[in-house]
Amino acid sequence: MKGIVFTEFLDLVENKFGLAVVDKIIQQADLPSQGAYTAIGTYNFSEMLSLLQHLSEHTQLSIDDLLLTYAEHFFAVLANSYPGLIDKYNDPIELLSSIENHIHVEVQKIYPDAELPTFEIIEKSDSKLVMIYKSSRAMYSFGLGLMNKTFEHFDSSAEITFEKLVSDGTEVKFSIVKTNG
Ligand code: HEM
Repeated sequence: MKGIVFTEFLDLVENKFGLAVVDKIIQQADLPSQGAYTAIGTYNFSEMLSLLQHLSEHTQLSIDDLLLTYAEHFFAVLANSYPGLIDKYNDPIELLSSIENHIHVEVQKIYPDAELPTFEIIEKSDSKLVMIYKSSRAMYSFGLGLMNKTFEHFDSSAEITFEKLVSDGTEVKFSIVKTNG
């Protein structure tokens, strides 16, 4: 997992819960990197899982809730860092249906070691998108947060529902229906 995902995560934890909580979860998580991340480095996904587990215990918020909130913050980071990738689109459904064959393809060129999910499109129209998320990291709540912010970015809104196809969250079917914009 790319370092930028860790550095932004720890920044957000610091803003929301304070530096003492950052120190505490880094200590408890017993990390090979010792919590010293650089944005361009690459680290084990298990470190993120361990940080999330300890933050979840500390805050009494579920890992899914934490990932959802984190993704809503991360969208702004992506939009600022890669404006060229997002500016190509003028519609949220067009953007979301292009993650697999354009956006993440470009990300993989920039970071050859990025670990990305796949999105298989099942149904697509101007106002509806059904796609299946697959990833061993089971970060579907992170995907949901990015989807929410994608609609907000285009001053649009949607009703997004999902269904786990595998109980551990490694395969999740998303149904996205645009409600305005
Ligand atoms: C300009 C737009 C985007 C950029 C530049 C981008 C880039 C990235 C990067 C750098 C990572 C981390 C990879 C790693 O740590 O190895 C990532 C992960 C991820 N991205 Fe994107 N992304 C974009 C848009 C989206 C959108 C709109 C979604 C919405 C569904 C999405 C879904 C995900 C998910 C779910 C992950 C977590 C990894 C996993 O589940 O396996 N991305 N993306």
